[in-house]
Amino acid sequence: MTKMLITGGAGFIGSNFVHYTLQNYPDYQLTVIDKLTYAGNPDNLAGVLEKIEFVTGDICDRELVDRLVSETDIVVHFAAESHNDNSLRDPWPFVESNLVGTASILEAVRKHGKRLHHISTDEVYGDLELDDPAKFTPETPYNASSPYSSTKAGSDLLVKAWVRSFGIHATISNCSNNYGPYQHIEKFIPRQITNILSGIKPKLYGEGKNVRDWIHVDDHNNAVHAIIEKGRSGETYLIGADGEENNKYIVETILELMGKDKNDYEHVNDRPGHDMRYAIDATKLREELGWEPKYTNLRAGLEATIDWYTENRAWWEAEKAKVEAAYAEKGQ
Ligand code: NAD
Ligand code: TYD
Repeated sequence: MTKMLITGGAGFIGSNFVHYTLQNYPDYQLTVIDKLTYAGNPDNLAGVLEKIEFVTGDICDRELVDRLVSETDIVVHFAAESHNDNSLRDPWPFVESNLVGTASILEAVRKHGKRLHHISTDEVYGDLELDDPAKFTPETPYNASSPYSSTKAGSDLLVKAWVRSFGIHATISNCSNNYGPYQHIEKFIPRQITNILSGIKPKLYGEGKNVRDWIHVDDHNNAVHAIIEKGRSGETYLIGADGEENNKYIVETILELMGKDKNDYEHVNDRPGHDMRYAIDATKLREELGWEPKYTNLRAGLEATIDWYTENRAWWEAEKAKVEAAYAEKGQ
């Protein structure tokens, strides 16, 4: 048995990672540490809590992190404040969890000589122009735009510095926008699906020309497993599945798949500093590690995601009014 410590395992991607790992990698013994912020929900782990060790705690708690890291073989670090719009309202939790929290993990990993895989985002590279044929590669210079993406960029740089200065055994992955079950309803796709299910019109920021490179959360997570198994220490791997679409297309497709008029949405205030386009070149991951995405049909993936939110109303309904009230304050 290999012991794996998963930070942020009660959040969207982390909880899907726990489910995916239990189903596909029975040789791992899992411990989750999660602070259970507004984004962490133990219900995301319903049915598997008895198969793992769950610790409610903050990754900034160095004593706790030191003990948990000393007891594991590998750390997979998902825990972070993850929403750009929240980082524009209050950047402090981003500085604390994303920067101080990552430093706390790194110091424990260094002290105990453990393996680390650090989960990050393509947003560390800033954005691309709509008409630019370029995509992000591991060589693209860091150029983050928001408090969210800049604190994630800082966390990556901390990992790189601990690799170079102290020789820790770590890998980094930078993934594009995920979709799938258990994603908090503040995020774009679940917000629009739950808006329609609640009788609210979908809300598109600005003109909706911004492009995101969508990937199903299970494809993100099986890429993370490929990196853990076969990735080279100290390397960065970009994860993406060639899913570029603009936001207008996504809103229209969700409306259509839910049997509504595809023009029945509202334009709302744009996000300040809104990144225009993200696009991943995942050649290194595909060629070096032989990884390929399983969900290559975004429409089918959206349909399955709509079904999940439709069938799991109890999971999101109590949060809906609060999330929409926070957006309404900003005219979004
Ligand atoms: P999420 O907000 O759904 O979940 C984050 C989890 O981390 C929550 O369970 C929260 O309680 C926990 N957490 C936050 N601060 C903590 C702290 N100080 N101590 C312990 N736990 C804490 O986020 P997500 O969308 O699942 O993202 C997970 C990771 O993946 C993040 O590092 C994010 O930057 C990265 N990422 C996300 C996407 C995406 O599309 N969502 C894409 C690429 C990378
Ligand atoms: P989001 O899910 O917040 O992810 P990110 O900011 O990490 O890309 O937003 C995805 C895109 O959707 C982004 O361009 C902002 C836009 N957006 C809307 O148009 N309407 C919304 O209600 C939300 C939440 C986001």
